[in-house]
Amino acid sequence: MSIEQLAETAQAMVAPGKGIIAIDESTSTIQKRFDSVGIECTEENRRAYREMLLGTPNLGDHISGAILFDETIRQSTKNGVPFTKLMMDNGIIPGIKVDKGTHALAGFPGEVVTEGLDGLRARLEEYYRLGARFAKWRAVINIGDDIPTGTGIDANAHALARYAALCQEQGLVPMVEPEVIMDGSHDIDTCYEVTEVTLRSLFASLYEHNVMLEGTILKASMVIPGTTSGEKASIEEVAAATLQCLKSTVPATLPGIVFLSGGQSDEDATAHLDAMNRMGPKPWPLSFSYGRAMQSAALKLWAQDLTGNIDAARKTVFERARDNGLAALGQWNK
Ligand code: 13P
Repeated sequence: MSIEQLAETAQAMVAPGKGIIAIDESTSTIQKRFDSVGIECTEENRRAYREMLLGTPNLGDHISGAILFDETIRQSTKNGVPFTKLMMDNGIIPGIKVDKGTHALAGFPGEVVTEGLDGLRARLEEYYRLGARFAKWRAVINIGDDIPTGTGIDANAHALARYAALCQEQGLVPMVEPEVIMDGSHDIDTCYEVTEVTLRSLFASLYEHNVMLEGTILKASMVIPGTTSGEKASIEEVAAATLQCLKSTVPATLPGIVFLSGGQSDEDATAHLDAMNRMGPKPWPLSFSYGRAMQSAALKLWAQDLTGNIDAARKTVFERARDNGLAALGQWNK
C-alpha cells in the first residue's frame, strides 16, 4: 500500500464540512446504551439499530466515514445489502474498531492499558478484505490522585504506535485515539497538562515506530474541566485551551484531527468544534468523530417504536450530521 493511497483516504476522512460517525460500541457498551432506553440487546436489535443509522438518506453529505464494530462489519440490511456496500454506495468510508478494550495496568492502580495487539496483523488483513479502509484504537487516560503516571501514558502510546504501524502495513489509515477521560474533579489546567504530555508521548512513539503521519488521523479529546470539578468553562475557553494544546503538540503534517464527544451534551460538542474552527488559521482540519453526540437523540426516538419511528430517528441523525458538518467549517448557527 502506498503512502499516497493512505494519505488520500486520510484526507477524504476530513474533507471540508464532513466528519465521522462512531457506531463501534462493543457488545457490552451498546448493551448499556440499549438498557438506558429499555431495548433488549439482541443481535437482531443491534443490526436493526445500525441499519437505521447507516440508512439515513443523504448521510454522505456530511459524513465521510463510519467506525463499525466487528459484528457490524459482517452484517447486512434486512434486504441483504452488506452494510459496507450500503456505506460505499453513499460515499461513506468503512472504518473498524480493532482494539480489544482496556485492562488494568499491572502495578499502577487506577490506570489501564488497551489490549489487542496479538493477532492484529491477521485481523487487519481480514478487515481490509471486508472493505475497511481505516481503523480505530482507543487508549484511555484517567485523571485522579497521582495518575496518570508517565509509565501509564507511555505504555498506551507504545500500543497505539504498534497498532498504527500495523494498520499502515495492511493499507488501513490508523485513527489514533488517546482519550483523556472527562470524569473526575480535576480542573481544566490539569486536563490541559495531561493532554499535552499524552500527545507528546504519542507523537514520539509514532515517530519511533516509523508511522507515516501523512496517512494517520488523530482522534482527540477536548481540554475541559472534570465532570465533578464544579468548574464551568465557557465554550470559548474550552475551544481556546484545546486548540492551544493541539498546536503545541501535533505536527502540521497530520492530515486532520477529529474529536470524540466523551459525554458532552450534543450542543456543547457541536459548539466547541464550531468555536475552534472560527479561531483563525490552524495547520490541520478539525472535525468530529462523535458517538454519543451523533446518536443519543436518534436512539431515544428509535427505542420508542422500533419500526414506526425510523424516519423520525433518521431525521435527527441527519440533523446532527449537518450541524456538526457546519461546525467543522466554523459555520454552525445555534
Ligand atoms: P463518544 O463521542 O461517545 O465519546 O464516542 C466516540 C468514540 O468512538 C469513543 O471511542
